[in-house]
Amino acid sequence: MQIQGSTFLITGAASGLGAATAERLAQGGARVVLCDLSDKVEQQAAGLNEKYGEVAIAVHADVTSAEQMQQAFDSAVAHGGERGLGGVIHCAGVVSVAKLLDRQGNPADLDAYARTVQINLVGTFNVMRLAAAAMAGNAPGKDSERGVIINTASIAAFDGQVGQCAYSASKAGVVGMSLPAARELSRHGIRVMAIAPGVFETPMMSDIPDDAVAALSQAVPFPKRLGKAEEFASLAEQIITNTMLNGEVIRLDGSIRMQ
Ligand SMILES: NC(=O)c1ccc[n+]([C@@H]2O[C@H](COP(=O)([O-])OP(=O)(O)OC[C@H]3O[C@@H](n4cnc5c(N)ncnc54)[C@H](O)[C@@H]3O)[C@@H](O)[C@H]2O)c1
Repeated sequence: MQIQGSTFLITGAASGLGAATAERLAQGGARVVLCDLSDKVEQQAAGLNEKYGEVAIAVHADVTSAEQMQQAFDSAVAHGGERGLGGVIHCAGVVSVAKLLDRQGNPADLDAYARTVQINLVGTFNVMRLAAAAMAGNAPGKDSERGVIINTASIAAFDGQVGQCAYSASKAGVVGMSLPAARELSRHGIRVMAIAPGVFETPMMSDIPDDAVAALSQAVPFPKRLGKAEEFASLAEQIITNTMLNGEVIRLDGSIRMQ
């Protein structure tokens, strides 16, 4: 899938990894649909339009809502014009920490667990099913390709830490869906990939105290620092343009293995 002239919908585009990916694609000549719950998404799209011409639109939508995401995809297909929607980079997600038992031995809150799974896992399925429907009717391109879906997992899918039952399970679900989704959508010429980032410098991580950031950086074999959102965006760009990448989850983590 070429970036220049194609249209991409990016969820979680108001912040962090999604915002950096939207910028990278706009810079590469793509039209971008920035989708997020947060009002900041308008500002983000306006910033891209100022820098790169009228390339971006903003859509407010909750990734867990069938109706709101259908509207977001309708807008994206319309924004794509004759070529329709070329791909989706799904970055919206939440982090959560809760132990099974707290210090007093009380069990964890069940609704909080379900909320994380609803946003990170069910939200990903919602995005994938609507993305597939929006792209299956595209005119086939080189190699009969019609589209690409990039989901965002986490290294917590593999090396979950204490307190990450909900987050790890939700991201492991994202990993688990990659291959069956890629297999199913192959007949439509739609690829499905996932990126599993290590620890990245984004607003999601801004609450971590400086000494914890230093310790996490030291725990990365190489390079000894947190990842930058631009590095995620760069991998997303490579996945979009490299048609052989399909049905795989790529760790982007400086080879850190969480304890
Ligand atoms: N930053 C990291 O270290 C890291 C590591 C591994 C995985 N990830 C994953 O990467 C993705 C992006 O994270 P980030 O670091 O850019 O975080 P971030 O908090 O900077 O951005 C996440 C965005 O998602 C949006 N969002 C949250 N829930 C939503 C919903 N229901 N509907 C629509 N939008 C919603 C938020 O408003 C926010 O703009 C997440 O899925 C996260 O789990 C991040």
